Amino acid sequence: MSAFTKKGGGNGGKTSGAGEDVENPPPLPAVKAAGVTALDNVQRKESKSGDADEMNGKNKRESNLNKKMDKLAKKEQKQSFWKLHKEELWSLVPYLWPKEQIWIKFMLLCAIFFLLASKLCNVTSPIALKIAVDRVSENRSDIEWAIVAYGALRFGANFFGELKDNSFAYVSAHASRKISLRVFTHVMDLSLKFHITRKTGAVIRGCARGSESFALLLKYISFQIAPIFIEVAMVCCFLLVQYDWYFGIITFFVIFAYIGFTVPFTEWRNKFRRDQTEADDRFNQKATDSLLNFETIKLFCAEPHIAHTYDEALKQTQKATLKTTQSLAGLNLGQALIITVGITASMGLAAEQVVDGKMTIGDFVLVNTFILQLYVPLNFLGTYYRMIKQCMVDVEAMFRLMGENQEVADADDAKDLVLANPSQAKIEYENVFFSYDPKEDRKILKGVSFVVEPGQKLALVGESGAGKSTIAKLLYRLYDIQGGRILINGQDVAKCTQRSVRLNIGIVPQDCVLFNDTIEYNIGFGKLGQGDVATREEVERASKAAQFEKFVNQTPSGYDTLVGERGLRLSGGEKQRVAIARALLKDPPIMVYDEATSSLDTHTENQIMDAIRVAAQGRTNLVIAHRLSTIMDSDKILVLSGGEVVESGNHQTLYADVNGKYRKMWDSQLQAAMKESPSTVELMKMGTQ
Ligand SMILES: Nc1ncnc2c1ncn2[C@@H]1O[C@H](COP(=O)(O)OP(=O)(O)OP(=O)(O)O)[C@@H](O)[C@H]1O
Ligand SMILES: [Mg+2]
Repeated sequence: MSAFTKKGGGNGGKTSGAGEDVENPPPLPAVKAAGVTALDNVQRKESKSGDADEMNGKNKRESNLNKKMDKLAKKEQKQSFWKLHKEELWSLVPYLWPKEQIWIKFMLLCAIFFLLASKLCNVTSPIALKIAVDRVSENRSDIEWAIVAYGALRFGANFFGELKDNSFAYVSAHASRKISLRVFTHVMDLSLKFHITRKTGAVIRGCARGSESFALLLKYISFQIAPIFIEVAMVCCFLLVQYDWYFGIITFFVIFAYIGFTVPFTEWRNKFRRDQTEADDRFNQKATDSLLNFETIKLFCAEPHIAHTYDEALKQTQKATLKTTQSLAGLNLGQALIITVGITASMGLAAEQVVDGKMTIGDFVLVNTFILQLYVPLNFLGTYYRMIKQCMVDVEAMFRLMGENQEVADADDAKDLVLANPSQAKIEYENVFFSYDPKEDRKILKGVSFVVEPGQKLALVGESGAGKSTIAKLLYRLYDIQGGRILINGQDVAKCTQRSVRLNIGIVPQDCVLFNDTIEYNIGFGKLGQGDVATREEVERASKAAQFEKFVNQTPSGYDTLVGERGLRLSGGEKQRVAIARALLKDPPIMVYDEATSSLDTHTENQIMDAIRVAAQGRTNLVIAHRLSTIMDSDKILVLSGGEVVESGNHQTLYADVNGKYRKMWDSQLQAAMKESPSTVELMKMGTQ
C-alpha cells in the first residue's frame, strides 16, 4: 500500500506519466514532446534571470511563462491536424472507393453526377427568372415557358440535391461501418495493459464518433465546400462578363471578407468545442464507471460522493457547452453583418443602373437572386467549416486510439503452435524474468525455471502477490517477457502466433467475468474461438463436469437464465463453475486453473477437485492454489516467493522438510482448518500419512 502511494507522489516531478492520463486524455505524442522541450527551454531561460526572492518578480515570471506556454501550445495546435494525420487520412480514403464493391463505387459516381446537375439547375434558374420578369414588364404574352422553366430548375436543384445526399449516404454508411470495425478490431487486439488502464466510456465513444465524423468530414469537404466554391466562381464570372465590373468584384470581396472572418473566428471557437468534447468524455467515463461499479458504491454507501463527482463532471460539460453556444452567436452576427453590407451595396448599385436605363428590371432581379442564392450556401460555409473542425477533433481522438501500439504483437515470421499429439503437451519455463513495467525496477519474476511433462499436474503455491497468476498469464502470452523463454513442446511462445497459443490453453481465471447473457451463451463461449457453436448437449456435458448442473436445474429458466452484467447475478462459486465448464468445453491440451475453487465451500470444492482430476487426464495441467489440500496429489509442486521458485518437489518431499516454507504453510492451514472445517482436516491428515 505504501509503495503504491509513494509511486503516485513520486511522479510529481515528471512532466508526463501514466498517472496523469486518468483524468486528462494525453495530447498527441508529437505535441506532447514539443511541449515538454519548449517548457524546459523556457524554464531554463527563466532560471537565468535571477531575482528569485522577490514575490512580485516571481509572479510576473510565472505569468510570462504561462503566456509563453500558451503561445507554444497554440503554435503546436495550428500545425497539428493535417500535418500530423495526413498519412492516416490518406489511408482512410480507400474506404470511399472500396475494391470489389461495385455498388458503392457506382453510388459515389452517381453522387458526383447529381451534385453537378443540382449546381447547374441552381445557377441557371435566376436566368429563367430574369427572362420571365423582363417579359412580364414588357407585357408580353409568352411568359409561361420562362416561368415553368424557372420552377423546374428550382425544383431540379432540390431534387438532384436530395438524390446526391441519398447516393452518398450509401458510401458514407459503408465507410463508417468499415472504419468502425477497423478501430474496434484494433482496440480488441491491444494488449491487456491497455485494457486494464483504458477508460471504457471514452473508448466506446472514440470508436463510434471517430468513424462517423470521418465520413462526415469527407462529405462536407467534397459535397458541400467544394460545390460552394464552384458556384461562387461561376456566378462571379457571369456577373463580370454580363454586367458592370463592380457587381462581380463586390460579390468576390464580400465572399473574401466572409471567409476571412469565418475561418479565424471558427479557429478561435474550436478550443471551446475541444473543451466540450473532453468534458463530455469525462462525464461519460464517470457515468460508465459508476454504473459498472454500482455494487461497490452501494456497499460503501458512496451514493452522495458519486452524485457529487457526477455533478462536477456535468458542471464542466455545462460550462463548456455554454461557451460553445455563446461564441456561436458572435460568429453568426459577424457573418450576417458582412452579408448585409454586400447585399445592400449590390442592390443600391443595381437600382441606380435600372433608373439610368442601363439594366432591365429582370437584370435587377437576376443580380439580387444570384447574390441571395450565393449567400445561402455561404451561410453554411461557416457551419461546414465549424463541423469540419469538430469532425477533426473526433477523428483525432480516433487516431489516438489507432495510434496505441499493439504491445504484444505477432512477429512477422510467427508460426502457428503445432501440437502433433494433444495429450503430449510439455511446458518449459527457462529462466524467465518479467516485470509489468519494464521501466520500473520492480521485477515480478526473477529467473523462474520449471518443466511440466506431458500429462502432468504442476501446482504453484505461495503467498499472495508472489507472481503465480503472472506465470499463467505469461503462458497465455498476454504480456511479453524480458528475459528467458517459455516453450510449449519446444516451440517458443514468443515466436508463435498468439491465437494458436491461446487456442491450445484453457484457463479458469482467478476473477471470472461473464457476459451479460444466458448461462448457455457463457458456457458455449468456450467453443466460439474455434469458430464452432456449442450444441445444448455439449453445454450440458461441460456443465455437468463442472458440477454446475444442479444449480442450473434449480433455476426456472435453466440454461436460458441471464447472468447479469459481468455475471453479477451469480454467486462467486457459481461464476467459477461457469468458467470451469467454459474451459472444459474448449477441451484444450493444456489447462490452467488459477484459484479455480477459491470461492467454493469445502464440500463443493471437493466435488470440483474430483471433476478437475477427471478432466486433467490426458492433458497437461497448471494449478494455482492457496489451499494446499487441493493440490497435494500434484505430480510436482513449486513454492513461489517474491518472484522466485524457493522450493519444489512433490507433497511428500516438501512436507518432509520441517523447516521448509511449504511445511510451514501446511501446518498453519491445518491449524486454521481444525477450527473451521473438519472435512479439510480429514483430507489434510491423509496428506501427512
Ligand atoms: N497488470 C498489472 N500491472 C502491474 N502490476 C501487476 C499487474 N498484475 C499484477 N501485478 C502485480 O504483480 C504482482 C504479482 O501478481 P500476481 O497476480 O501474479 O500474484 P499472485 O501470486 O497470483 O497473487 P494472489 O495469490 O493474490 O492471486 C503483484 O504484486 C501485483 O500487484
Ligand atoms: Mg493470483
